[in-house]
Amino acid sequence: MQIISKSAQETIELGRRLGSVCKGGSVISLRGSLGAGKTVLAKGIAQALEINEAIVSPTFTLIQEYEGKYKLFHMDLYRLSGTDEFEMIGGEEMLYGKGITLIEWSEKIQEMLPDSTIYVDISIMPNQERVITIEGIEL
Ligand SMILES: Nc1ncnc2c1ncn2[C@@H]1O[C@H](COP(=O)(O)OP(=O)(O)O)[C@@H](O)[C@H]1O
Ligand SMILES: [Mg+2]
Repeated sequence: MQIISKSAQETIELGRRLGSVCKGGSVISLRGSLGAGKTVLAKGIAQALEINEAIVSPTFTLIQEYEGKYKLFHMDLYRLSGTDEFEMIGGEEMLYGKGITLIEWSEKIQEMLPDSTIYVDISIMPNQERVITIEGIEL
């Protein structure tokens, strides 16, 4: 499915819908350029999981873990050196665990993603609206 988001608030709202249909073990790949709205969408997903803690971009930590309806692993792999580092920081166990895993810059570990991965692609249009394409789950 494809939707147009006209504001950060609309993207949060979409994240909430997505988060409410996710099950434990879901892996969501968030793709799109810097500033597209991947972290904004992650905030909406976290709201649906009833996570009260503020979602901060895990740019330097690579992975942030939160407790909610499900455990949430929020990854930003922009600075990841490669799949070796991903294994070293325990990323693979998270992908196959009971929690929900959101991955910004998942391209870095493409070959490690489960077949069941949900793909969300966000692109910025010239008028600044976002085109958001979701594959692998029905909303
Ligand atoms: N429709 C929209 N959806 C999401 N973010 C938007 C939208 N319009 C403007 N923005 C702004 O774009 C920025 C997206 O930032 P962020 O989610 O951190 O990007 P990313 O994680 O993809 O690098 C925020 O400042 C947000 O307010
Ligand atoms: Mg981000």
